[in-house]
Amino acid sequence: MPRYDLVSRPRRLRTTPAVRRLAAQTRVHPSDLILPVFVREGLAEPAPLGSMPGVVQHSMDSLRRAAAEAVAKGLGGFMIFGVPAERDPEGSAGCDPEGILNRALRAVRAEVGDDLVVMADLCLDEFTDHGHCGVLAEDGTVDNDATLEIYGRMAVAQAEAGAHVLGPSGMMDGQVGVIRSALDEAGHPDVAVLAYSAKYSSAFYGPFREAVDSQLQGDRRSYQMDPANRREALHELQLDLDEGADMVMVKPAMSYLDILRDVAEVSPVPVSAYQISGEYAMIEAAAANGWIDRRAAIQESVLSIRRAGADSVLTYFAVELADWFREEN
Ligand code: PBG
Repeated sequence: MPRYDLVSRPRRLRTTPAVRRLAAQTRVHPSDLILPVFVREGLAEPAPLGSMPGVVQHSMDSLRRAAAEAVAKGLGGFMIFGVPAERDPEGSAGCDPEGILNRALRAVRAEVGDDLVVMADLCLDEFTDHGHCGVLAEDGTVDNDATLEIYGRMAVAQAEAGAHVLGPSGMMDGQVGVIRSALDEAGHPDVAVLAYSAKYSSAFYGPFREAVDSQLQGDRRSYQMDPANRREALHELQLDLDEGADMVMVKPAMSYLDILRDVAEVSPVPVSAYQISGEYAMIEAAAANGWIDRRAAIQESVLSIRRAGADSVLTYFAVELADWFREEN
């Protein structure tokens, strides 16, 4: 006997793939995805990363091919991290027009023109011999204001190399403002800043440190945010907006979806979230063991990040997600 008192039956909208597609409130479109990539100086062939199966350190040639593929797949952006051959205490290669990241930016822009948003990581950790995101004071602490001066020069070098968007990831106070004024003074008012507004000190960055051959001893707790803090994210957001951020980011994504929701609710500018290396590695490791369905887990993880409020997502799965989107839509 059907129960006629049951007026609402939410299952009606779950009956077929077609009705579920119609009822879906969130989608992951290729143009919402930003692919983070690594390019390593001196490589002739791409080098696989043990802790991130499927991800490589690119050679200059393979990086160019990856950029062309990103255009073909309709991705939204391409965030480049450079791994230099030589490091020093000041991270000089970051500001050098011939440094690996700046050369990569030029090569990628020559390949894709304006068909893909080319983004540059703006941070010193890949370039310093101590692995910190800034330069050190005599007492060994990270010197905020001395670092800002270098970030300003690095921003101009990256703009001149052709970056459309700069992503300052070092969590120095005042970094967005310094970068904005350096860009404007050097005649690059159209280069945008994607601020890592709420970047937390996270254990899940582990595999990335292999990817950039990090020299870091210790941790980044004196500059990245404390995972215990929620309200502070809104303070960081406000500061970055006041300093001229064009877009903002929450990072990591999965353990910080509450923060992402908070930021998305109030941000007047587009919000990104970064599904970081450890999030990638956990999914790959569980899938390799046959413990989860890889494709379903990847799609659910990125859908959740979009549902929590991210307009765009940085993810190492971007190319596959784009393929699956085309297959399913
Ligand atoms: C540092 C930086 C990190 C990541 C991007 N930029 C690592 C860190 O802060 O230690 C992590 C990205 C990832 O884990 O995928 N400039």
